[in-house]
Parts: sequence; structure tokens; C-alpha cells
Amino acid sequence: MDGNGRWAKLRGKERVYGHSEGVESVRACLEKAVELGIEYLSLYAFSEENWNRPQEEVDTLMGLMMQCIGQELDNFMKNNIRFVVLGNRTRLGDGLNEAIDRMMATTGSNTGTTLIVFLSYSGKWDILQAMKKAAATLALGQIQQMKTEDLDPYLVTAGVPDPDLLIRTSGELRISNYMLWQTAYTEFYFTDTLWPDFRKPQFVQALEAYASRDRRYGKVK
Ligand code: IPE
Ligand code: MG
Repeated sequence: MDGNGRWAKLRGKERVYGHSEGVESVRACLEKAVELGIEYLSLYAFSEENWNRPQEEVDTLMGLMMQCIGQELDNFMKNNIRFVVLGNRTRLGDGLNEAIDRMMATTGSNTGTTLIVFLSYSGKWDILQAMKKAAATLALGQIQQMKTEDLDPYLVTAGVPDPDLLIRTSGELRISNYMLWQTAYTEFYFTDTLWPDFRKPQFVQALEAYASRDRRYGKVK
């Protein structure tokens, strides 16, 4: 989700205003995902690098997260949405961590769309923590026998299928340390639309583009 700051600036407003409008895009896309029966919708909400933004903006983004969790419980229960947060949770405040834990526990047995919010996440961090966990759990001989898929259970996305489609808004053409390992065969979709303008029609357009892709996974058809 990129372009909130630019969206606000174009309107002569503070960046914060773009972030709150961006939350409306999250609501719209989640609603569409539920309507279409999409099993997993993942949002890259805050990267490890985003901690280096001005403290005021970091506080605003964490505050928005806290506020959304507070507001969305009924909606998630009504629509059978399972809520999951993945990332380096040790860097989040206690209040936010508790709210996240409560929301994850309450929605944990919902069987519809899983909404994964990547918070304080980076792909390199994920691979490193997976490696450390594997090293702490497995014997050296087992590590030497490991195949690439054997690392999957140690990543924070353990049990979650690799993404089929990755959408990046706002015209930036990079992955910015998102799911580096998991996107090995993901289809990419880039759009100039700024995140606050990315609503149901834009989401459907991205899904239609995905539907016309020919996925060969390096093989010949
Ligand atoms: C949202 O957009 C991404 C978040 C980290 C919340 P930005 O805040 O990166 O907006 P731009 O790129 O400055 O326009
Ligand atoms: Mg940005």
C-alpha cells in the first residue's frame, strides 16, 4: 500500500490525512476480497525500515492500527474474517501487542478470508529469524539435508500459501523488502494509482490482469 503521503500532499494536506484515507481503501479491498471468497489478503502496512520515519508519523500509523482493531471486531466476526499480524512484534508497544493478540484470538476460528497485516516486517528479517529458529531446533546433519521448502515452516508465514499476486500502488517498481522468499513465483502488478484511490474497481482490475497471466513456474507448457 503506497502513496498515502503523496495523495495528501496533492491536496495540500498533511501526510497523516493520506493514511486515514488509506484505511478506507483497506476496508474496500477487504470487503471485495470477502465478496469474491479470496482466501488470503495480505497487506504490507509497516516495514522494519518504516521505523526510521519521523516519530510523529510512526505514532500516527500505530495509532491508526490500534483504532482499526478497536473498530473492526464486529465486522470481522460478522463476515467470518480471520485477523493475523505478522512481523517483528517485539518492536510494537505493549498496548498494541495486547490488542492484536485479543483480535487474533477472537477471530482465530473464523473460516472465511484471512487478513494478514504485515507490521514491522521485512523479508530479510523473516529469512534470518527462520534460519536462527531452524538452527536452534535442528541438528547440524538435519540442516545440511534441508531443501528450500524445509525452511517454510520457520518463516512467519508458516502454513500460509505463497502469494499468487502482489499489487504495488503509486508507480513504485520495487519490492521494498516485502516477502522476499515467498514471492519467488508471485505475479506482480504495478499501478500508478495512489493507495487512497485504490478501491474496489481498481482491485478488480488487478485481479482481472492476474487472471490473464500464464503461470509456468519455470517449466514449458
Ligand atoms: C503508505 O504510503 C505506506 C505506509 C508505510 C503506511 P506512504 O506513506 O509511503 O506514502 P508516500 O510514498 O510518501 O506517498
Ligand atoms: Mg511510500
